[in-house]
Amino acid sequence: MFYLRRFIIVIVLIVASYFALTALHKHLDPNKHKPDEAREDARWIATSQHWLDRQACRWMGLCGLSHYHPDPAARSWSKKRAGQDILLEHEEDVYGERIDWEEIIGGGGGPSEWDGDERVLKDVPQFVLDHAPLVHLYSKEEFWPSDISEHISHITPYLNHTKMNTSRPRHNVHDLHELNSGNQGKAMFLHSKDDVEQRPDWLGSAHNKPIPYPDEAEVEEEEVDTYTEFTDKKSKEIEKEFWFDPDGFAPKQSPPLSSSFRSQSTGRRRLSMKKSLKQKRRTPALPGPGGYSPAPAHLVLVDKGNGILDAFWFYFYSYNLGTTVLNVRFGNHVGDWEHSLIRFVDGVPKAVFFSAHSGGLAYAYNGVEKGKGKGRENRPVLYSAMGSHAMYATPGKHPYVLPFGLLADVTDKGPLWDPALNYVAYHYNTSITHNQDAKSIPNSLSISQMKDVLQPASCNPKAPMGWWWYKGHWGDKFYELGDFRQWRFVGQYHYVNGPYGPRYKNLGRSKPCQSGDRCTILESIEQGKGRSWVGRRRR
Ligand SMILES: *[C@@H]1O[C@H](CO)[C@@H](O)[C@H](O)[C@H]1NC(C)=O
Ligand SMILES: *[C@@H]1O[C@H](CO)[C@@H](O)[C@H](O)[C@H]1NC(C)=O
Ligand SMILES: *[C@@H]1O[C@H](CO)[C@@H](O)[C@H](O)[C@H]1NC(C)=O
Repeated sequence: MFYLRRFIIVIVLIVASYFALTALHKHLDPNKHKPDEAREDARWIATSQHWLDRQACRWMGLCGLSHYHPDPAARSWSKKRAGQDILLEHEEDVYGERIDWEEIIGGGGGPSEWDGDERVLKDVPQFVLDHAPLVHLYSKEEFWPSDISEHISHITPYLNHTKMNTSRPRHNVHDLHELNSGNQGKAMFLHSKDDVEQRPDWLGSAHNKPIPYPDEAEVEEEEVDTYTEFTDKKSKEIEKEFWFDPDGFAPKQSPPLSSSFRSQSTGRRRLSMKKSLKQKRRTPALPGPGGYSPAPAHLVLVDKGNGILDAFWFYFYSYNLGTTVLNVRFGNHVGDWEHSLIRFVDGVPKAVFFSAHSGGLAYAYNGVEKGKGKGRENRPVLYSAMGSHAMYATPGKHPYVLPFGLLADVTDKGPLWDPALNYVAYHYNTSITHNQDAKSIPNSLSISQMKDVLQPASCNPKAPMGWWWYKGHWGDKFYELGDFRQWRFVGQYHYVNGPYGPRYKNLGRSKPCQSGDRCTILESIEQGKGRSWVGRRRR
């Protein structure tokens, strides 16, 4: 009798806390739409072989309890060593599919199917490079920036959980869009050929860890709070300026001022960098200048008219390692796209947006920390969180979604990545369509229409474009409940769907924030510290 009572109390407690936490989660999460994963709930639960598991999942929200196992960020040392030896032996295989970005950035080879007309291609303005972001990755990061061409060489296209019948044996960054034909984007996945829990080396991309700066130690020593105090204007006043929301500001119809963005000095920094890279390549000890990562960043420029230019920097990682709550890991996915946006008006940087999960915060340009040391002055510093790579303006802990800091991102002054040393640049022509982007893109564009909308910048006329137009997910579909790797507690999955590509990130946004109507320009880092990842003021 005593045991029965205790048993019932435990069950009631579990159910009560499940509902309480689910309600809280619903209240805090800015995404009011149902996540894609939840739409397939019945089918997903049915994949479990065990009656008890299905019932516990349906009625108590405890899904795959028996699957629980530790999911450490890295494999054990001995296994890792063995893996590395194999990598060295098969290096040809591993890197065989990677495209030579240096060739592309330098304007060489590549398929010519949709080459831009080099005479009309636009430059990357020098002011975009002069104010390019600097990204502090986490010091103990296990999942470094990845090269999309290498990523694609390790995946197989899938429709839901089955292999796609494709016309080519392999796909690459130039022809990835061919997968679109006849398929729905939401059913398409780039499924890892390896079991991600084995942590194959490409998933961590340790070879793309940025090269340390020779002067980093000195810079750390003279450490002081250097970000400019920004006290002369309040956020509300900034938000009245026309550049904050050109779509909500009259006059509405105005021609883009693209011609004013032309500049002569573009690319010089990178060219000289390339030269020094070529020289340094002969001495393996110095593979590049400080801040350089062999994985290119993707720079996408969107001219919003009235002198407003949005410079989107996209960062790709092959894996997003979720956060642990009470030692249980949630939210892993293959493929991870993050971005930051710097909004310029007539060449003057005004705001920086930091993407984080489904939200992110926007700051006045003058309010964020700036880089120190030669070539880094006056450039905004961003912090990329361990595992999730969400971007923040400060080092430290950043709670999200769940209350009491149960789920928190961590950032610190780890290796500094300078994406301006290795990037592929494009111009993207989209109307200002706040929050409409993903939906308003027609399902099938001809190559010539695509060429009108996305153009490589003149510094890399042969830049690949197929990857941009691919409409599916960049990683595996969330594993089935019957899969040993999967679980779900309190509505949080161990593995979720891989994300969609950069063109679904609301590039036509009017206000600098990625999501929705709510967008506050924070005037200082101090102000950001009191905000959650969706910009709400913390109580
Ligand atoms: C993929 O799964 C979804 C949800 O179960 C389903 O609606 C869709 O028809 C499936 N598509 C394909 C091509 O299997
Ligand atoms: C795969 O595609 C080929 C040619 O496009 C076709 O002949 C074949 O029947 C397809 N197989 C399946 C299983 O759909
Ligand atoms: C962008 O596209 C629109 C409509 O498709 C076109 O009228 C305009 O000229 C394009 N702008 C540029 C800068 O290419």
